Amino acid sequence: MDPIRNPFSPGAGTPPPELAGRDELRESLRVTLERAKIGRPAKSAMLVGLRGVGKTVLLDRIRMDAEAAGIHTVRIEAPEERSLPALLAPQLRQALLRLSQVEAAKDYAVRGLRALAGFAGKLKVTFGDIEVGIDYEPEPGLADNGDLEHDLQALFEQVGLAAKSADTALALFIDELQYVEEPQLAALITAMHRTEQRQLPVVLVGAGLPQLRGRMGNAKSYAERLFDFPVIGPLPPEAARLAIQKPLQDEGVDITPEALTKILQVTQGYAYFIQQWGSHTWQAAATSPIGIESVNTASVTAIAALDESFFRVRFDRLTPKEKKYLRAMAERGAGPHRSGDIAGCYGADVSSLAPTRSSLIAKGMVWSPNHGDTAFTVPMFDDFMKRIMPGNDWR
Ligand SMILES: Nc1ncnc2c1ncn2[C@@H]1O[C@H](COP(=O)(O)OP(=O)(O)OP(=O)(O)O)[C@@H](O)[C@H]1O
Ligand SMILES: [Mg+2]
Repeated sequence: MDPIRNPFSPGAGTPPPELAGRDELRESLRVTLERAKIGRPAKSAMLVGLRGVGKTVLLDRIRMDAEAAGIHTVRIEAPEERSLPALLAPQLRQALLRLSQVEAAKDYAVRGLRALAGFAGKLKVTFGDIEVGIDYEPEPGLADNGDLEHDLQALFEQVGLAAKSADTALALFIDELQYVEEPQLAALITAMHRTEQRQLPVVLVGAGLPQLRGRMGNAKSYAERLFDFPVIGPLPPEAARLAIQKPLQDEGVDITPEALTKILQVTQGYAYFIQQWGSHTWQAAATSPIGIESVNTASVTAIAALDESFFRVRFDRLTPKEKKYLRAMAERGAGPHRSGDIAGCYGADVSSLAPTRSSLIAKGMVWSPNHGDTAFTVPMFDDFMKRIMPGNDWR
């Protein structure tokens, strides 16, 4: 079929042709954000799920919905090794500058910009990576304590007051939140707690790997009550069907029920894989309706492409010890696995492997669904590990 018209979009954060199966969550967050806008209590949410399930595109869509409803938004992605205050400061500045254009909010927004000046000035000592334009002189005593937890609270309070006086809400969208270090996460939670207590219209919509929930609970035990943690999982069969069928239909192309069922089977409903199989099936097919033989051809090329991209980028960031650990996990299947079983796979003892396990958690490769259990954060990574480290030499 014409490659130019291929509707599918495998990628990181690439919007799909059809955002299937997420209407309920979108609607519930729309209600949350609109509530915040009219000054009602609104619970922030953390979207948690494995790699490639569609957290980023959902976060972006919710943000578009919010903007369309007149809510001010900022969007941040927390990469490894950048401080949260460094990421927040320029974005909050933009938001405050925009709010300062609203006559009713001007005074509060300017005070917010003063708070930001104090915040950035003092915290630069601790977080050398803060780079932000300063529009107003700091106000002595306002967000300039030099302690992140205290100063972020004061800053959020000013931002909240500015948003409130502008009759709007500020929604913070933060992706890859699991990479934020715990003390900084604690400060973020405290700041959100403060705006909640003061009934200020600030909402946080975060996204991250499943370990985010535990990390937030460790950072502040009340985090579990302060936020909702909707799980973003594989698409249920009906939604997965729609994700394939709708874009094809829009191109005037049909697919046989057997071919569609086969795609559902091999992708297990994982959003990234659905796009990948959709795209490769399109490439393999010559005519409509698309039959099962096209899906079978696609399975070969799609897996090869995944091995070179989705899986490979993650594999290449691993040390030899980490690779070995993941290979041992793969030996035992999809998981989750007990630490003892993994160690037993190559005759190591559990305590000597603890640092490797920790570094894999920090890199976001594995997580712990229960104490002592370890699971992959990338769906179907077990099969990939067996393909890339075949046989028994790895032991
Ligand atoms: N609801 C959906 N329906 C169809 N396709 C989707 C859906 N959600 C996401 N996708 C597709 O899945 C792929 C992965 O999406 P996205 O990058 O948002 O995942 P993610 O959970 O953020 O992954 P990661 O943890 O690696 O950042 C993209 O190609 C996207 O177009
Ligand atoms: Mg993402």
